[in-house]
Amino acid sequence: MNPSKKDRKVMVIHGPNLNMLGKREPEIYGKETLDEINAKLEELAEKLGINVETFQSNYEGKIIEKIQKTSGRCKGLIINPAAFTHTSIAIRDALLLLDIPVIEIHLSNIYKREPFRRKSMIADVVTAQITGFGVQGYLMALKAIAKM
Ligand code: DQA
Repeated sequence: MNPSKKDRKVMVIHGPNLNMLGKREPEIYGKETLDEINAKLEELAEKLGINVETFQSNYEGKIIEKIQKTSGRCKGLIINPAAFTHTSIAIRDALLLLDIPVIEIHLSNIYKREPFRRKSMIADVVTAQITGFGVQGYLMALKAIAKM
């Protein structure tokens, strides 16, 4: 890997239950598995000359530790906190540590769903939010960060 690509590292964090994509409510979240989404991100990253690291956890604390480790190491963060989006002040506080572009992603349009999903605890502390574009949303976020 050439040094410039190594310098251009983007972290992608997937929250709880996203490891079940493909099987989980495919009519809402699509048929693609998380491995397939990560492969698409890696393929695009290669084209953009970016190094992408992907991480999934069902545990809030592990996601927080990953965000803390992202600080100073990455040029950007793409995060789908899944259900923690609607509940986690701790993830919000961790994101406030970062001084890099942070893009919040949701496969579904959270504003078209149940009332409890319409509130994001992180929307006002991230750089941008992409919601409802399915897998395309992740790719849009990576392209945007590459240009930032
Ligand atoms: C989600 C939306 C959340 O409300 C839900 O809990 C998820 C996935 C999305 O990508 O559409 O797990 O973040």
